[in-house]
Amino acid sequence: MNDLAQPPHLISPTTDVRESFLAGEWASCIEDDTPTGWLEPAQDDFAAFVAERRGVRERWGVPCTTFWYVSGEQYIGTLIVRHALTPELAEAGGHIGYHVVPAWRRRGHATRMLAGGLAECRRLGLDRVLLTCAADNEPSRRVIVANGGVPAGRVRGEDRFWIALDSA
Ligand SMILES: CC(C)(COP(=O)(O)OP(=O)(O)OC[C@H]1O[C@@H](n2cnc3c(N)ncnc32)[C@H](O)[C@@H]1OP(=O)(O)O)[C@@H](O)C(=O)NCCC(=O)NCCS
Repeated sequence: MNDLAQPPHLISPTTDVRESFLAGEWASCIEDDTPTGWLEPAQDDFAAFVAERRGVRERWGVPCTTFWYVSGEQYIGTLIVRHALTPELAEAGGHIGYHVVPAWRRRGHATRMLAGGLAECRRLGLDRVLLTCAADNEPSRRVIVANGGVPAGRVRGEDRFWIALDSA
């Protein structure tokens, strides 16, 4: 079922996974029909690409941390934690965004990756987080509900869910 040497975990972006990152993200763009242009700088200078993504950076108007879900040299997906919400993110986007590359989908990775992301949110001192997904994104809805997501309405085609983080 899962031919990984060790269970994946969330880490700061690393140059160790160059080949699997580029192959996996290229496949994601094709599968999800999104542009590939952002991968060109990664191909040209992966170390600079990685350096730019490490640590806390300002995106969507809030501080954000990027994590890669990795087992050894195998890159599986990305999870981004937004440390706060803007009015826009409170409607769509929420605190956490994620994806798993196509070759590793449907094996429970996103469900476990979000559980790891919630632990990171707890470490940041958040006591609840907002998750949103397109109303027709059944896989993502399942990932959120499996992690305790409580429905909080639909705004412009995005379903919203709150997840309470206990302090234990
Ligand atoms: C959504 C996404 C992260 C799910 O990743 P994943 O690793 O395949 O998810 P999991 O294996 O943990 O599966 C979660 C649930 O969805 C179901 N599922 C996964 N893919 C599915 C599909 N294509 N069709 C129907 N159900 C699916 C699984 O069977 C599982 O259901 P269960 O909990 O009832 O057993 C992945 O499909 C993806 O990256 N999609 C593109 C980006 C995206 O949509 N990100 C989320 C934005 S809100």
